[in-house]
Amino acid sequence: MTVTIPMSIDEYKVVHLSDLHFTGRPNEELNGIWQFFSTEEISSANLKILFDDIVTINPDHIFITGDITNTAHPIEFHKAKEWLLGLQNKLKPNLGQGTIELLPELFTIIPGNHDVSVKPSWFRRQKAEASRLKLFIETFGSTLNLTNHSNIYDFQEAFPTYKKLFDVVQVFSTNTTVDIPVHIVGFNASGEIGEQQRKRLFDKLNDLRDEHSYRIVLCHHHPLIIPYRLGSDIAEKFLAMKDSRKFLRVCFDMGVHLVLHGHKHHPFIWQNEIIPELDPPHQMRVICAGSPTFARAGSSQVYNRYIMIRKRLGSRITLQKVDMITRRYDPIQKRFKDVNSKPVNLYEEFVNPESRTEDPTINESDKWKDKEKPYRMNKTDLPGGGKKDKSD
Ligand SMILES: [Fe+2]
Repeated sequence: MTVTIPMSIDEYKVVHLSDLHFTGRPNEELNGIWQFFSTEEISSANLKILFDDIVTINPDHIFITGDITNTAHPIEFHKAKEWLLGLQNKLKPNLGQGTIELLPELFTIIPGNHDVSVKPSWFRRQKAEASRLKLFIETFGSTLNLTNHSNIYDFQEAFPTYKKLFDVVQVFSTNTTVDIPVHIVGFNASGEIGEQQRKRLFDKLNDLRDEHSYRIVLCHHHPLIIPYRLGSDIAEKFLAMKDSRKFLRVCFDMGVHLVLHGHKHHPFIWQNEIIPELDPPHQMRVICAGSPTFARAGSSQVYNRYIMIRKRLGSRITLQKVDMITRRYDPIQKRFKDVNSKPVNLYEEFVNPESRTEDPTINESDKWKDKEKPYRMNKTDLPGGGKKDKSD
């Protein structure tokens, strides 16, 4: 007797925003360092356009990798949350109506260096450090399931957080803000994971490792140097994630597929070359979303959208495909448009050659046939199949 196993294919849409830099600090408080980050250069004029664009995409989930506020002022936190609650009510009318908290099913929001709310104080070490993420976690902690965390104001303990999306996507959220934020010393915008958080990240990635899950790590600071006008060695000293090499090592060794970040206000993608001799061969991408609202000359106003295809075969659920498309603001037409004429393919589920019937000419090395080896990628799955996309 033949038993038919039911199969279903589901498509999920994900949006990755970063560095929105909501403004709102009263003018009389815009002194000192905040004049450098004056509101004139950070445009919120297209927030309505961005809002409508995201509603049109209708994402199932939205990642925001930090710097959601410009100067960590309560007014800015309030404005950002109202904007996001508006999105929530549009996108999840059945879930979100009437709630005053942002839903973890729809949002994952991590802090950036601009979201640290401590004010300069001689008593900073005694009083303020414990509350430096207080406002952030009170406003956005619900998206990280942190509201009931016993140590929600101790960032060293609270991160990384973990959630699962669509039954098959693992999301690990980190905090790379540091003890001495930009408004205390005036120019420091660097960050770090820190030894303790990195150890917890390793343990979580290790404990939750399973061969069917697609793994994403979120961070704010760029773990790789992004070559553009503010990418000089001197600038990097004040911008970079200081322990990024160790952080990337953990991510790669633990089979992370995507590291998503912000901070640099410039779109960027890196991928390692697949080395077949590596056991198992693995490919990881590091992708910066840029900023969709930062209007300083030379910056593109961009964000990324992802399409994730999930396959359910009986009780087995796997992610079949992940594609990415960058959206860029067109100031002439005053709307966001896809940059890519075709999506960048980031992931395609490995198909065991023994079960492949449509193309028997493909030969794989014997060890690739072992069903127990996780995180396989097909070499032909590189974006554009290794050829340059004329539309870029
Ligand atoms: Fe930043």
